[in-house]
Amino acid sequence: MNGAVAPPPPPRPVEVPDLAAYRLLHARSLADPEGFWRERIARFRWNRPPDRVLEGDGPAARWFPGGRLNVSENALDRWVDDGHGNAAALLWESEAVDAWRRPEEVRRFTFRELRDAVALLAGALRALGVEAGDRVTICLPIVPELPIAMLACARLGAVHNVVFAGFPAQALLDRIEDSQSRVVITADGGFRNGKPFPLKSVVDTAARRTPLVQRVLVLRRTGEPVAWTPGRDHWWHEAIDAATPAAPVPVASDATHFLMYTSGSTGKPKGIAHGTAGYMVQAALTALHAFDLRPGDVGWCTADPAWITGHTYTVYGPLLSGAATVICEGPLGFPDWDRAWDVVERHRPSVLHSTPTLIRAWIRQGDAGLRVRDLSSLRLLASVGEPINPTVWRWFREVVGGGRLPVVDTWWQTEAGAAMIFPFPYATPARPGSATLPFFGVEAGIADAEGRLLEGEAAGQLVIRRPWPGMLQGIWGDPRRCHDTYWSSVPGAFVTGDAARRDGDGCIWLLGRTDDVIKVNGHRIGTAEIEGAAVAHPAVSESAVVGLPDERSGEAILVFAVLHPGQEASAEVERGIVRSVEEKVGRLARPREVRFLPALPKNRSGKILRRLLREWAITGRVSGDVTTLDDSSALPA
Ligand code: PRX
Repeated sequence: MNGAVAPPPPPRPVEVPDLAAYRLLHARSLADPEGFWRERIARFRWNRPPDRVLEGDGPAARWFPGGRLNVSENALDRWVDDGHGNAAALLWESEAVDAWRRPEEVRRFTFRELRDAVALLAGALRALGVEAGDRVTICLPIVPELPIAMLACARLGAVHNVVFAGFPAQALLDRIEDSQSRVVITADGGFRNGKPFPLKSVVDTAARRTPLVQRVLVLRRTGEPVAWTPGRDHWWHEAIDAATPAAPVPVASDATHFLMYTSGSTGKPKGIAHGTAGYMVQAALTALHAFDLRPGDVGWCTADPAWITGHTYTVYGPLLSGAATVICEGPLGFPDWDRAWDVVERHRPSVLHSTPTLIRAWIRQGDAGLRVRDLSSLRLLASVGEPINPTVWRWFREVVGGGRLPVVDTWWQTEAGAAMIFPFPYATPARPGSATLPFFGVEAGIADAEGRLLEGEAAGQLVIRRPWPGMLQGIWGDPRRCHDTYWSSVPGAFVTGDAARRDGDGCIWLLGRTDDVIKVNGHRIGTAEIEGAAVAHPAVSESAVVGLPDERSGEAILVFAVLHPGQEASAEVERGIVRSVEEKVGRLARPREVRFLPALPKNRSGKILRRLLREWAITGRVSGDVTTLDDSSALPA
């Protein structure tokens, strides 16, 4: 392949040692899915093996039907039973450090200790009334109890719904209500950037607005005082003191395993539902093939377990592979960006898996700090969540990887469950800026705007042309919406919402979203959610939001606002709009700028032409076809 970086030789035997092996296995995974996956699922523990690999098609596809299993048993008990119980499973460190930059707290769990902690919490949850199929909302800071809570739900066959601990009460309430969670797991608070932040009070505010929440389990983390509702609230430490460990509850392959709310093109986030067996198989097998994680290894994925990358590669992927996972409290920039290199030196991970946003922060910090640290444990580098610019890719490989480590750029999304397109580290020639080739069972395609599939070199919408194991089961509470959103516009295919180009070697280059979703610091934010928060400001009659390229955050949010007659644009209104967005959507969505316009550009059917606004904001001009514009005076010439 031209312009490609040859993969390094594998440091130990791998199943896919070269491109020919990849091509053979990938072709077989598409030609004979039944045989291909049947061989690969033998490594998991099934209470009842599946009758078939796949049944049905499109959004109705069911993976491994007839099977029964438990994910926490596959992630924990099976390693303990295999004699691996004393190996490290979870390595956590606090954000607070001493004068020597040593974390004030380090907690290490072996597989046995983690299994025991999970079984005990599962017993406590059962005593609070949690049963298989119940949804449990988890809103915890980044502490070991977060993965423990997830795995405890999975142990009971309950459905976890993890909500990021930085969301405002309204966003938490929406997610509690939509998932119909009667039980919430939280903490008094957490630590971020050297300061405590409250969490229980956010849960209290949300719970006051719904009759739904009957039990709140509260972890003591900061020790700050909290309000208490007797009967409803229970301390974590008291609940586990009184609990008896719970054994894993086998569930059907297609039982819902978890929900993850994510933004789409409407104002309402959707609860992406993932099933049990298909998700588990793809999470584990991509942890093996993309990151080469095996029993005894240590992986470090910098993602907060509260997001999909954290679910799959901070929690489930490594543990299902028998590898340990490193988890760090707080964002990594505290006390400074060199903390990451301290973490590598201390915990000696073989994999460093991060995001372009974080890598750009490391580049800005300069490499003096990393050059004096021992990074020799690293064997593989990985990136996810946003397009990685080739310059950033090269810096990662050269400076962090010493020019010798593979860089695995993984493309996927919340709906995908696990990595879908990535270079096999020792087989696929890497292309800086391209996620390259699809994983086993993934048939990637490019479609034009009319939904016609294109052959050969092409650019257009990225689609997935058949069901894959980790695929979403649906949108929680709205089966029709799943079909309409993803499976209706290109016959037989799943529409990803990304634009992409396929080159002459079949490699995929991601070109950004085709819908109204923007990525800020790797977080997926729907423009409609921000617009809804902007128009909630009493002075604002209409709003349109666009993402602008931003060196730091990937994209930055620009809010256009049209004011009600008689209202004056002012710094105060601007501040009010920013506050409204922070309160309703969260600090993640804090706008960089607000601009006032007399009207928004719309087409004749009333659709806001965000493309024009974006172009105008970036270049100061509008090119191309503006004939559909209803009121061209909306944009200055
Ligand atoms: O636009 C793509 C971008 O992130 C979107 C998915 O976001 P989310 O559901 O939050 O999941 C993030 C973690 C998997 C995609 O639709 N994206 C993700 N990975 C890449 C990417 N864009 C370019 N290159 C990637 N490697």
